[in-house]
Amino acid sequence: MTPDVRPFVAGNWKMNGLSASLVELEAMRRAVDAGEAGPAELAVCPPATLLAQAAWKLKGGKLALGAQDCHTEASGAFTGDISAPMLKDAGASYVIVGHSERRTLHHETDALVRAKAEAALKAGLTAIVCVGETRDEREAGDAIVVVTRQLLGSMPPGGAPETVVVAYEPVWAIGTGLTPTPADVAEMHKAIRGLLGEIYAASGTKIRILYGGSVKPANARELLGLDNVDGALVGGASLKAVDFLAIAAAYA
Ligand code: PGA
Repeated sequence: MTPDVRPFVAGNWKMNGLSASLVELEAMRRAVDAGEAGPAELAVCPPATLLAQAAWKLKGGKLALGAQDCHTEASGAFTGDISAPMLKDAGASYVIVGHSERRTLHHETDALVRAKAEAALKAGLTAIVCVGETRDEREAGDAIVVVTRQLLGSMPPGGAPETVVVAYEPVWAIGTGLTPTPADVAEMHKAIRGLLGEIYAASGTKIRILYGGSVKPANARELLGLDNVDGALVGGASLKAVDFLAIAAAYA
């Protein structure tokens, strides 16, 4: 946790969810609006196909909506792609960029991730910029070097606590049930905090740094209580309201 920073717990549904899954979103909304979800800000990033329906269901409530990726351009001949202004128009206020699955499976570079983050900011979205090392990189002792390089290459100019969030997600911890030790998470988040101060000066001290990778109700309290860990980016455990809310309850 960082003093005077409101924690943030975001769910990334990835390529999961049909219309029927919106009952989970409605259950989350009810808990958030009833004040039962604790002090953290909560957001869910469903697949793009559900955004408009989800926005309708969340209208007027306190559960925020995010998307999972955006294009660098606002419009144009890019078949199959979705722009940041389109996401904003559909009701999103956040967008994840540079998730490791996109960096790996879609060969996204730091420069592309930064351009996407810039497009997000321009459209009035808050960018959740993901970084994280592979298992080989960690075992070689290069985790901090790799994440430093990713951050320097991916963070958009002019980012501020209201417009950017960093998600540290070790690639080897995503969807595997494995997590780094609390000491390793704390060390990485401290390094990221220092770097954000270098990139953004004073406003870097309050930019939220999430941990992501196999966050579950059972390990949330330990991970989310660490210095400079300001929340979580949750994959699998965000698909069910009961699990997602149990993670947010780490702050209650
Ligand atoms: P996981 O995914 O919680 O299922 O490990 C996290 C993520 O990829 O954001």
